[in-house]
Amino acid sequence: MNTPRHVPVLLDRVVALLAPALDHPGAVLVDATLGLGGHSEAVLNACPEARLIGVDRDPNALRMAGERLAPHAARTTFVHAVYDEIPDVLADLGLPSVDGVLFDLGVSSMQLDVRERGFAYAEDAPLDMRMDDTHGTTAADVLNTYPVEELARILHQYGEEKFARRIAQTIVKEREKEPFTRSARLVELLYAAIPAPARRTGGHPAKRTFQALRIEVNDELNVLRRAIPAAVEAIGVGGRVVVESYHSLEDRLVKHAFSAATRSDVPPDMPVVPAGHEPTHRLVTRGAERAVEPEITENPRAASVRLRAIERIREGAVA
Ligand SMILES: C[S@@+](CC[C@H](N)C(=O)[O-])C[C@H]1O[C@@H](n2cnc3c(N)ncnc32)[C@H](O)[C@@H]1O
Repeated sequence: MNTPRHVPVLLDRVVALLAPALDHPGAVLVDATLGLGGHSEAVLNACPEARLIGVDRDPNALRMAGERLAPHAARTTFVHAVYDEIPDVLADLGLPSVDGVLFDLGVSSMQLDVRERGFAYAEDAPLDMRMDDTHGTTAADVLNTYPVEELARILHQYGEEKFARRIAQTIVKEREKEPFTRSARLVELLYAAIPAPARRTGGHPAKRTFQALRIEVNDELNVLRRAIPAAVEAIGVGGRVVVESYHSLEDRLVKHAFSAATRSDVPPDMPVVPAGHEPTHRLVTRGAERAVEPEITENPRAASVRLRAIERIREGAVA
């Protein structure tokens, strides 16, 4: 049986937002973060005319989602790619535009559950944290090689860690004795570096540092900064992009990309917007939608979700 952590976040809402864009023959959904395929499965069930292009940078996710979605094999295509490569993926498939793009950002429950991948701080494991574990820089590489200022910046910016500088200095001192390889030593260091009063109020002392390392290892924000405008451009008229973010930095990028697409290119002091200069897109959600109870209790990941959606209303490049 599925544990509550495996339940896709805001599942019904995501399906309701995508369904109107996918209710015609030949409609195409790109799930940019296929994961275990939970959202995709629900959309395929609700939209019998739609086909799915499932993208993930994690080959293990593609294999597992492939098994889950086997009953829909005639309507699914799986692609191993980073989601800022979606324009190339669509060009290779001969698709000038699509009808829906879904992003459910962050790590999957499967990635958290496999101890050896090093995403979870609760157990001792290799400091890896790569979503694509076939190549690239690991968390241990970051800890063992980055200059102290860079480590402090990452912890402060990506982890919103108040003690970023102090932690970075301790990491650099410790790695001179012996390079970091496993998470238990890092967690121990964080307990020592974060003062006791802050430890009592600020959640687990490793949470923010682990989040920051994960974002850096996977270059998450730079990839997202390129991917959202590309997805907004990729949808045809009536098409929708739906994004679930779990971090304020992610949500800010999404909000900015969406407001750029819903603005007209006409100066704001013009009394009327001339024909052909109307915005190309409209917001489908008002602000960011949040999860409510009982979902938050049943699925802790839902507590931090912010969902935004946008729809294309006319042809043309974003102003
Ligand atoms: C939260 S999970 C998605 C869960 C999915 N919605 C479900 O219902 O099972 C996020 C997935 O996105 C993938 N991912 C994260 N960043 C990515 C990127 N830049 N490009 C492609 N896949 C990415 C991760 O490997 C992970 O499998």
